[in-house]
Formats: sequence, C-alpha cells, structure tokens
Amino acid sequence: MILVTGGAGYIGSHLVMALLEQGENVIVFDSLEVGHIETIETLKKYGNLKFVQGNLKNLDDIRGAFLVNKIDTVVHFAAYSQVAESVKNPQKYYYNNVYGTLNLLNAMLEFGVKKIVFSSTAATYGEPEYTPIDENHPQHPINPYGKTKLMIEHIMDDYDTAYGLKSVRLRYFNVAGADSKARIGEWHEPETHLIPNILKATSDKVFKMFGEDYDTKDGTCVRDYINVEDLAQAHIKAIDYLKQGGETNFFNLGTNDGSSVKEVFAACEKVKGESIPLEVCPRREGDPATLVADNKKAKDVLSWAPEKDLEHSIKTAYDWEKELKSRISE
Ligand SMILES: NC(=O)c1ccc[n+]([C@@H]2O[C@H](COP(=O)([O-])OP(=O)(O)OC[C@H]3O[C@@H](n4cnc5c(N)ncnc54)[C@H](O)[C@@H]3O)[C@@H](O)[C@H]2O)c1
Repeated sequence: MILVTGGAGYIGSHLVMALLEQGENVIVFDSLEVGHIETIETLKKYGNLKFVQGNLKNLDDIRGAFLVNKIDTVVHFAAYSQVAESVKNPQKYYYNNVYGTLNLLNAMLEFGVKKIVFSSTAATYGEPEYTPIDENHPQHPINPYGKTKLMIEHIMDDYDTAYGLKSVRLRYFNVAGADSKARIGEWHEPETHLIPNILKATSDKVFKMFGEDYDTKDGTCVRDYINVEDLAQAHIKAIDYLKQGGETNFFNLGTNDGSSVKEVFAACEKVKGESIPLEVCPRREGDPATLVADNKKAKDVLSWAPEKDLEHSIKTAYDWEKELKSRISE
C-alpha cells in the first residue's frame, strides 16, 4: 500500500488519481487545512482509497496510519508552500515542514518502511547561477520555504546513511494544469500561482504583471511550467525506481523550456477566447529573471519525459475553474 501525505491537495490528488487508475491501494494522510474533503470524495470513486485525517505535527496521528495499514512506500507532499508567507512567518514553515517531516520519517523507521518520494522544489537552488538548472547547480535557497525543503533533503541523506532509508527527491519547477477530465484540479485559497490567477482575473480584480524590464525575451520573467499529470507520472516512475532497489537520488522535474509571463498571459487569452484585464506593476523583490530546468537526469535515470504542453495545462486549468465554479454554486 502507498501512503500519500498531502493527497487532498493540488499535486498529491493528481498522483492519487493516477495510482488509483492503475489499480494501486492508496492511503491519503492530510490535515485538510489546505486540501479539500470534496477532492477525497471524488478520488474515492476511482479505486481503493482510504483517507486518514491527521496532522504530521502530531506523531501519534501519523503513527496511527502506519499501525493499521501495511504501507511499503510513502510519497510526501504535505507542506506549506507559499514563499511570501514563509518570509513573514518562518516559524510556521520550519515547524510544519521540517518537524512534520521528522515525525513522518521517525514513524517510517518505527514501522520498518524504508522508501520515500519527496516533493522538493526548484526553490532549493535559490538565485540561478546558470540556466537551464541541472541537479549539480549549487543549492542556496533565498527564503525560509526553500530552506525547509533543503533541510529535509539533508535529513533524508543522513537517514539513508544511518538507517538505510531510501529517498527520491523530486525538485519541481512551476506546476500547472489540472486533470484532463476536470475531475480534480488546483484549489487554493488564496491562489498564488500564475495561471489560475490570470484565468480568474476580472475587471474588479485585474491581473497584475510584476515587472517588464527583466533581461529576458520580452522583459517579463521566464518560468518552466510542468504539467501536473506529467508530474504524477514522474512520481510513479520514482516509486518504481525505489521498488527496484534504486539508491537515494534527486531529480529536476521541468520541461527544459521556459515561457515568459507575457506568453502565458497571451495563451490564457487564447484559451478563454477573450481579453483579460491587465495592470503592469513594478518588479517584486526576489523574483529571478529566468528559472528553467535541465531535466536530462530524470529522462536518463527514470525514463520519464513530459508530454503535455503549456496550452494543454492552461486549457485543463480553465476547464477545472469552470467545473469548480459550477460545483460551488450548486
Ligand atoms: N505547486 C507547485 O508549483 C510546487 C512547486 C514545487 C514544490 N511543490 C511542493 O509540492 C507539494 C504539494 O504542493 P501543492 O501545490 O499540491 O500544495 P497543497 O497545499 O495543495 O497540498 C498540500 C497538502 O498538504 C496538507 N498538509 C500540509 N501540512 C500538513 C500537515 N502538517 N499534516 C497533514 N497534512 C498537511 C494540506 O492540507 C494540503 O492538502 C508541497 O510540498 C510543495 O512544497 C509545489
């Protein structure tokens, strides 16, 4: 059985859907602080899913999940992940992300579970020294959120050396899109990600574009948008890699290609078929001009490659926005 922490959230729910559709037995452990019970109810329609509501900050909550289920692998998404909030309130981030993960790892050791796939992030690299960013790029995170993820990567190395706990750390770039059938999708309040915010913009709440004087193709920031279903497939490959006896490892998950904010904005207008209200604002502090992944290692070692393009991600995100609106207004 596979335990997915944070499986009621955005990315975790897409992995759970993919696992259920290939007949896996899955347990989701989630506090529902950010994730939604409606997502769990939807997922339950597609396979054998158990749900445990609990918080990683409480060791007994997570021990309880191991106690009554035969778990062989863990996929760990549960974390807080808003960069700006982590700068304002680092205590919240270190406590939840680092202490919560320590509880999870300690429960795994207690119950003899030695395989974990972990959601790391491009934010562990900090200000890029070169681009595309490969896995050898120095890791100097510039905010508490990125630091919590790097600390966890270091803890996982030490737990391998001392206890033989094997981890695969997947460093995601910008995750985008939704389930191709609009059953689940991104559902954050407040929403901080670019594509849903462009799609949600109205004349009362215009989309704010921060900075158009960067040293990039059109002056706006360039990011690497990786589709959430492609990302789920990478997790399945990482689980298989560990099941086949793979050593602790880490991989960038991105597309090797960057899109500027202006390009994403234009693609959103095309998908919506209408013009979207826009205000150009000064740069925000801490936004690097370009963040693009070199994904060769994941291709070579995991035999994974992204298949879905930016337009597909925007289209599925838009279909999900409409679906969510209709469910909420029911
Ligand atoms: N979304 C991105 O673009 C992106 C990029 C890089 C890395 N990541 C990482 O991927 C993971 C998933 O991201 P997401 O966008 O799906 O986030 P999300 O907030 O939608 O999902 C996280 C889930 O974890 C749960 N959770 C948080 N703390 C918990 C705790 N202490 N105990 C139990 N459950 C807890 C939340 O309720 C939520 O359902 C996170 O670890 C994030 O840092 C995300």
